[in-house]
Amino acid sequence: MIGTVQLGLLAACVVVLVPMGLAGWHLSRNKMLFFGGALFISLAVAVHLFPYFPSLSSFIPDASSFSSSSVVILKNRDSCLPLLHEIEWNEENYGYNRSVLSWGWGRSDGSVIACDFQKLRKYDARDLLNGSWVMVAGDSQARLFVLSLLNVMLGEEEMESVRRHLFKRHSNYQAVVDGVEMKLDFIWAPYVTNLIDLIVDLSNNKSCPDVLVMGTGLWHMLHITNSTDYGMSLQRLHRSLMSFLMPVSLEFGAGPDLVSVSARPRAHLFWLGMPMLINSMLNTEEKREKMTNETQDAYNDSLHGSKLLHQSQGPFLLLDIHALSKNCGVHCTEDGMHYSEIVYEAAVQITLNALLIESQQKL
Ligand SMILES: *[C@@H]1O[C@H](CO)[C@@H](O)[C@H](O)[C@H]1NC(C)=O
Ligand SMILES: *[C@@H]1O[C@H](CO)[C@@H](O)[C@H](O)[C@H]1NC(C)=O
Ligand SMILES: *[C@@H]1O[C@H](CO)[C@@H](O)[C@H](O)[C@H]1NC(C)=O
Ligand SMILES: *[C@@H]1O[C@H](CO)[C@@H](O)[C@H](O)[C@H]1NC(C)=O
Ligand SMILES: *[C@@H]1O[C@H](CO)[C@@H](O)[C@H](O)[C@H]1NC(C)=O
Ligand SMILES: *[C@@H]1O[C@H](CO)[C@@H](O)[C@H](O)[C@H]1NC(C)=O
Repeated sequence: MIGTVQLGLLAACVVVLVPMGLAGWHLSRNKMLFFGGALFISLAVAVHLFPYFPSLSSFIPDASSFSSSSVVILKNRDSCLPLLHEIEWNEENYGYNRSVLSWGWGRSDGSVIACDFQKLRKYDARDLLNGSWVMVAGDSQARLFVLSLLNVMLGEEEMESVRRHLFKRHSNYQAVVDGVEMKLDFIWAPYVTNLIDLIVDLSNNKSCPDVLVMGTGLWHMLHITNSTDYGMSLQRLHRSLMSFLMPVSLEFGAGPDLVSVSARPRAHLFWLGMPMLINSMLNTEEKREKMTNETQDAYNDSLHGSKLLHQSQGPFLLLDIHALSKNCGVHCTEDGMHYSEIVYEAAVQITLNALLIESQQKL
């Protein structure tokens, strides 16, 4: 058994050196991940150690201020992330038959206001994602998400070319945003098995995007129509993700002194939920027959039962396209499945704000 002093020293090294190492590593690539990775590791260490080793503070000059700032971060993270979907929709009328829909974070709820969510404009989004590798994998919903993300980052002219290339059916797409070292990959992945293959691929390549947005389900619902099977494939995805994303887990000491240090996932993970399907508006008989309200509910249950989402201590923050599309309403869709840009724009802004919170940055 390691003595308390040695363990304290070792812990002090971890507290001081791991974040510094990570800082050096990430800062050169990406400002965003520096705070995310380093602080949460520090926080995990601090939370584990401070109750047992009050004397630890003597190893670290400013240990008290260090831990209290971490607590603020944790509080902000815990209280604001769940409020990101508190969005209100407004229809503004301009003259006779013209009306424009707009959205914003709720202004009637004090705790939402306190989080100070902002719609990021081009400059801020470019700054935030500078140096990052963003990967979005999924079906046509994911494609619409990519379109909205690039719409924030790029100018009108560049968007024309993006639209032309992105909407080639069922193909991957890659963009490098000029002026910012940001790489964006869209991976066509209509089934969960495609997502699992992608994880295996990334794992073999030993590469990991900084931001990973995933989501599928509509194709499975239409062509396989078996929510149990969907749930099982999500569980397989969960298993392959865990071994891929969570390799950093140090343990030292033994018995009651065992200290485990677990880091947050290497990537920031978002699950792109399914939209509200409006059965009567779906454009084929087969869709109307298979994609019923009951089937939607069953698929939703499978997702929530899969332990993929934050709500069940999983790695993904849900981008709740169902809620966003439902609140946008019937007039935001023509085929009951693909919604107007504004829905995906809201999802993108939720994502960007979540990244700001996770990296503890302010605009
Ligand atoms: C407004 O819509 C109604 C019915 O949809 C149409 O008859 C009318 O001509 C429209 N008015 C204008 C100014 O576009
Ligand atoms: C992106 O980062 C590079 C190098 O760190 C910097 O020179 C450039 O100005 C940044 N661009 C934006 C848009 O922040
Ligand atoms: C893995 O590496 C291969 C070869 O460099 C490349 O073609 C492939 O796109 C990479 N896969 C991923 C998911 O990055
Ligand atoms: C649904 O999928 C599960 C798991 O793959 C399978 O055991 C079950 O038989 C399927 N149900 C139907 C009706 O095909
Ligand atoms: C399906 O759900 C929608 C919205 O939740 C509702 O308006 C509609 O009446 C439901 N349809 C059936 C057949 O239950
Ligand atoms: C999906 O399931 C979760 C958990 O059971 C529930 O909280 C949520 O309201 C459901 N969403 C829809 C759109 O039914």
